[in-house]
Amino acid sequence: MDTLYRYILKPILFTIHPDTTHEMFAVMGEWAGSFFLLRSFFGLLYNYRGKDISKTVDGINYRTPILLSAGFDPGGKLVRIMPSFAFGGEEVGSITANPCKGNPRPHYWRLVRDRSFVVHKGLRNRGVGPLIARLKRTKRINDFVIGISIGRTNDTSASDVESGIADYLESFKKLNEANVGDYYTINISCPNAYGGETFTDPALLAELLPKLKQIKCEKPVYIKMPINLPWEQFSELLEIADKNNIQGVIIGNLNKNYDDLKYREDAPKEFSGGLSGTPCFALSNELIRKTREKYGKRFTIIGSGGIMSPEDAMEKFAAGADLVQLITGMIYEGPVLMKKICQRYAESLSGPTPK
Ligand SMILES: Cc1cc2nc3c(=O)[nH]c(=O)nc-3n(C[C@H](O)[C@H](O)[C@H](O)COP(=O)(O)O)c2cc1C
Repeated sequence: MDTLYRYILKPILFTIHPDTTHEMFAVMGEWAGSFFLLRSFFGLLYNYRGKDISKTVDGINYRTPILLSAGFDPGGKLVRIMPSFAFGGEEVGSITANPCKGNPRPHYWRLVRDRSFVVHKGLRNRGVGPLIARLKRTKRINDFVIGISIGRTNDTSASDVESGIADYLESFKKLNEANVGDYYTINISCPNAYGGETFTDPALLAELLPKLKQIKCEKPVYIKMPINLPWEQFSELLEIADKNNIQGVIIGNLNKNYDDLKYREDAPKEFSGGLSGTPCFALSNELIRKTREKYGKRFTIIGSGGIMSPEDAMEKFAAGADLVQLITGMIYEGPVLMKKICQRYAESLSGPTPK
């Protein structure tokens, strides 16, 4: 199956614009997920069936410690097919209180030589209401964990601090009241939304989190962290998260620094966005390591950014991640990547156990 993807499917898919392939996958994945036979077929090819590698984090049991990262499935259409691909869960979203058209197209651009995407989607989604309705009517696959990422509506209606806070609170309250999702992530670090990353300013995060804390929530709440801040400012954000009962951090979001590209000339001239994949790898690992060093077990850490091989995933665990998330590696390496990571992780459990 590895060969089929690498030498036949991928070369074909990579001739199509990534905006189109992403939409094709959403439609086909939703369709395939509705048939038991197709779920079983993909499961046979791509699911992990080795020794038990399940892990309980913040009271949630993950069948495997690998999750699909936020952004691939903003509308929750793939929650029935993704369990066939060795994922222990997925983060749906980011969704926002109101529907967002997103930024003008194109939304994506492949940087093949850097094994990355330029992501310029700008939180395109149908809003929290339709997501709740969809998740409520979708029959869950037993042990597949669903996290929900909450962003801030990407237009002028939520661009100042007050309306931005109200926007996050509205989505959070609605999800919580509807009791959908197993954990929630507050995405403060979308690099291409209107008004910028307001709440990566420690003073403003310190306004948002106490208000969020006032809403009673039994589920773990995480923050999706930016990866381009100097450690001093990054750790100020962690201090604030610590004081406000945030259980964990996802480290982290897209890379804004085009100097981290080896082939900068491949980047599009007409638009810019955050970089996924390999350019995120070292930056996120470094921040995971420092966070674990400074805070010990205080935070759950979900490592995300540039996992393109089982070794990359193991490096994230070794740096201190409890769970890992990915998108770009799945697209460049094919769906067999997640199974290979599970196998490698299982082998590592026979030796020294990663945290
Ligand atoms: C197509 C795409 C869409 C994304 N959309 C979101 C999003 O809506 N919310 C979010 O928190 N992160 C989003 N991200 C960032 C990813 O969740 C992830 O943090 C980042 O891509 C690094 O992981 P990767 O290198 O495995 O792709 C997106 C990434 C990609 C590639």
